[in-house]
Amino acid sequence: MPEFARRTRLRGGHELTTILAGSPPGVLSMTGGFPNPATFPTDELDAIAARLLRDDAAVAMQYTPVAGLPGVRDHLLDRIAATQGRRPDGGELMVTSGGMECIALVCAALVDPGDAVVVEAPTYLGAIMAFNGAEAEIVAVEMDADGLVVEALEERLAAGLRPKFVYTIPEYQNPTGRTLSLDRRRALVELCRRHGVLIFEDVAYRELAWGGEPPPTLWSLAPDVVVQAGTFSKSFFPGVRLGWAVGPADVVAELTAAKGNTDQCAGGLGQRMLEEYGRAGGFERHLPAARELYAGHWAALADGLARHMPGGVAWTEPTGGFLTWLTLPEGLDSTALRPDAIAAGVSYVPGAPFFVGEGGARTLRLSFSHLSGPELATAAERLGGVVRAALDRVPTHTPGG
Ligand SMILES: Cc1ncc(COP(=O)(O)O)c(C=O)c1O
Repeated sequence: MPEFARRTRLRGGHELTTILAGSPPGVLSMTGGFPNPATFPTDELDAIAARLLRDDAAVAMQYTPVAGLPGVRDHLLDRIAATQGRRPDGGELMVTSGGMECIALVCAALVDPGDAVVVEAPTYLGAIMAFNGAEAEIVAVEMDADGLVVEALEERLAAGLRPKFVYTIPEYQNPTGRTLSLDRRRALVELCRRHGVLIFEDVAYRELAWGGEPPPTLWSLAPDVVVQAGTFSKSFFPGVRLGWAVGPADVVAELTAAKGNTDQCAGGLGQRMLEEYGRAGGFERHLPAARELYAGHWAALADGLARHMPGGVAWTEPTGGFLTWLTLPEGLDSTALRPDAIAAGVSYVPGAPFFVGEGGARTLRLSFSHLSGPELATAAERLGGVVRAALDRVPTHTPGG
């Protein structure tokens, strides 16, 4: 048995392994934050891949420049200009191997052991694992219905906290489904500018807006203090492992240098497929259907929750993406309840692992990406039954309360 590096013990990630492992047969699973395969543009990609292999193999099958193929980068600059209202300069953009790699690159470029980084409470498990692995001191700042509570961050900064960055998922957040309000966005960039703190914005779910346009990205509001991680996992398909980083040129240059130490370039075939698909209007053709699918799923789940959850259970009302966040009444623990839920044929992710340190025992995350509308209705009914039964066992609980 080799002596593994110290960082292997810092990462954690048991919960993520469980999520990726899936649920037993017969269980209606609301665990994985994976996009629905019905949104994968297989027919179009079939033709594009065949054409690339026939006509462009020398580029598509070759290594690419570290920051991405020039044509792909041009296309991304155009796409970011179209979707975010601001066009990055060439030096402000790089192609990454997905959003998660961007998080790893930011750690490599910015985090020394013991450095403070701020996250939302709760936040994306993969980010917590990456920051732990980089030996960061993770400071969690509370959220409410409007996203990160900027005033709470302000208090921490006023008290002397000097984080390397503030990591935030401003829309349809993982795990809560919440969106940072426009006023909060303005306040956050103003605050971070004043204190010279970088904002690390993760826009993983932004393209899946189905309840109206989200507020402007933090990067478009303040390109001088924001690094943005984007991913094509939710808007194209996760198997392509592609994303981007946009931010101040000096930061992007360091991220690019860090990528030279990992995979050296994102896969050329995926980059060229993305470019061809994007230039042919694939996103404009396919994203509306994906948004409609998730909106329909949410309508079914929201209806099921309203019908079947006992009083005292609260949930967020996302306007995009495919995640919602439940808070159970006092006295219940979502981790302890999970075996009952699985026995009843429904599964979810307990909320506690999305918090750094203590907290979240009464919370849980539901993903409505995969199950159909009728399945989501049944899943809500099963979960409602599990919560009701558990409440009946809480000594102080008044039935119906
Ligand atoms: C908030 C957030 N950021 C980043 C990622 C990672 O995305 P990718 O598949 O591009 O690595 C995810 C994946 O679920 C996510 O939820």
